[in-house]
Formats: sequence, C-alpha cells, structure tokens
Amino acid sequence: MKILVTGGAGFIASHVADAYIAAGHDVAILDDLSRGSMKNVNPKARFYRGDVRDHDFVEHVFATEKPEALNHHAAQMDVRRAVEEPVFDASVNIIGSIQLLEASVRHKVRRFVYISTGGAVYGEPKEFPVPEDYPLNPITPYGISKHTVEHYLFLYNVLYGLPYVVLRYGNVYGPRQSSKGEAGVFAIFCEQMLVGIQPVIYGDGSKVRDYVYVEDVARANVLALEKGEGEIFNIGNGVPTRDDEVFRVVRDNLGLTELQPKHVDKRPGEIDRIWLDTAKARRVLGWEPCVSLQEGARETVRYFRGVAGKQKTGTAPTGAKG
Ligand SMILES: NC(=O)c1ccc[n+]([C@@H]2O[C@H](COP(=O)([O-])OP(=O)(O)OC[C@H]3O[C@@H](n4cnc5c(N)ncnc54)[C@H](O)[C@@H]3O)[C@@H](O)[C@H]2O)c1
Repeated sequence: MKILVTGGAGFIASHVADAYIAAGHDVAILDDLSRGSMKNVNPKARFYRGDVRDHDFVEHVFATEKPEALNHHAAQMDVRRAVEEPVFDASVNIIGSIQLLEASVRHKVRRFVYISTGGAVYGEPKEFPVPEDYPLNPITPYGISKHTVEHYLFLYNVLYGLPYVVLRYGNVYGPRQSSKGEAGVFAIFCEQMLVGIQPVIYGDGSKVRDYVYVEDVARANVLALEKGEGEIFNIGNGVPTRDDEVFRVVRDNLGLTELQPKHVDKRPGEIDRIWLDTAKARRVLGWEPCVSLQEGARETVRYFRGVAGKQKTGTAPTGAKG
C-alpha cells in the first residue's frame, strides 16, 4: 500500500514508518523538522519537508504521492507549550489536521489513521482502567485539540465517506524519544542520569501513567490499516506504573542503584492517575502489547547510552533501530 506518514521524522512515527516498510508498504514521510530529525527518517522512505498547515505544500505532496493511506502523527505535542500558546497548539493540531482531511478527500485516500491521546482526552478519570467510551473532559488545550479532530473524522466519514481509524495512545516510550513533550519521562531520566544531573520527580512519585513501548505502538498502526474502520482504540499496556517505578527501572538499568530522586511540587494541570482499558484493541485489531516495562526500559537505556557515548566522542548520534 502507498502510505503517507506525517511526523515521520519524529519519535513514534519514525518507528511506524519503519514498521510499514518492514511489512512491505511503500512509504513517504511529511515533516517540518520542527522537532523531528532526518536521522530518524528511514532511508527507504521519500521525504517532504513542510508544514501540515500549508495548503499548497500539502496539495503538492498528495498530488505527487497519491497515497492510498494517510497516517497522521505530526502534531504540536508539548502539553506545557499548549497551555502557554493555545492558538499555536490549535493551529497545528486542528487546522493542520483539517488540511490533511481536505486533501485526503480530494485525493480519495482509502484509510486515514489518526493519532490521538489516551493520556490527555479523558481528563482526571475516576474509574480504571479507562475505556474508550469514558466521558471526555480534557484539562489541557492539547487534549482538546487532539480530541477535536476525532469529531472531524466522524464528520468527514459522514459527509464524504472517508474511512478512518483513531488510536489513542498511553504514554509511549522507547528509542528516539525526545526529552521534551507530553510523555518524555523515560527520555528525561535517561538523559539526566547519564550526564549526572539530579533527576526530579514532580510530586511524591505516586502519579500513575500507562506506559507502552514504541514498537508495540507501531504494530497497532500496521493492524489499523486493515481493521477497525470507523472505530477509536486505546493503545496502552493497560497497567498502572508510578513515577517512582519509572525512576527505579531506569536507574537500575544504568547501574546507579544508590541514586535517589529529588521531589518537588506537582505541576498544576497534571493528572494524578490514568491507565487504559485496551480490551477493544485486543478484540477488534487483534493487537496486544508484547514488551514489558523491564524489557522496554532496557532497550531505551541502551539507546540513550549510545547517544551519550557518541556525543562524548563527538560523533553525531544515529537513530538506533528500536
Ligand atoms: N509521545 C507520547 O507518549 C504520545 C502519547 C499520545 C499521543 N501522542 C501523539 O503521537 C504523535 C507523535 O508524537 P511523538 O511523541 O512522536 O512526537 P514528536 O514531536 O517526536 O513527533 C512529531 C513530529 O511532527 C513534526 N511536526 C510538528 N509540527 C508539524 C507541522 N506543523 N507540520 C509538519 N510536521 C510537524 C515534528 O517535527 C515531529 O517530527 C503526536 O500526534 C502526539 O500527539 C504521543
């Protein structure tokens, strides 16, 4: 299948592009490199540098590539930036997505795989694990902008018959993750511990998230090309993991067993607890997470060790295959 992957120079979508190519698909990548890097771009993919909000650029890419499927990961995904610059957040995440929806209709795309967030659309839930039909009360502009596009997808399906699937991720972690953004705690701890900066935990360490390894997430994107049309799926490990557990697993993998975190006040707007009910993805997509937190942490630490080693010797780090 010919697939256009937006955000494919970034963390998650670069793994998705790799998984599509490994499955025999023909991949093109669109990314403005505002956060992504050419080091992450699979050499077998064609690359287009530009902004999803730019109508003429998007039209040029669709007209050139004629994709059968669109996988849309490009986004403003920094939760704090979304609070500080809600107009910018909405322009990339909502207007940019509408540009892609319009182009997908014009060019008769047969599958629109949209990436939403299970960590930010439900707000502060009261029941666990959280299923897809749980009430949506996002408490960040980012959660609102990501969710808004789910409405547009439903509408474009009604108006134009555009087939779509929505994947709502938990906190994705793994090689190539940036330490800035929605869910960068693995990357942040790895980077800080490797250079000897005191790692900080916001709150007492009891905040809980649903961590899912990036290769498991990439596999869900492969399955979503064929299954689950018109549906929304949570993609997570389905288990709660505390901040202090993430700290410990990274620390122990780095052999820094004496290191203790510094605790500072919880940041406003951060939710206390979330983990996702993934029964629907298991049932309909036939997907399940395969990588344990221990295994995923080992691979992530190995990657960041490699990056730090190359920086020390002055060699440019290469994007490790996760
Ligand atoms: N990281 C997580 O745990 C997580 C959780 C839930 C959902 N998501 C979603 O997954 C997607 C990918 O997140 P990620 O963690 O890989 O982030 P990332 O920042 O590594 O990747 C996003 C990519 O989009 C590109 N981009 C940003 N604005 C653009 C624009 N206007 N035009 C073109 N390209 C643009 C960036 O350069 C980057 O390469 C996002 O949609 C995010 O909302 C991520």
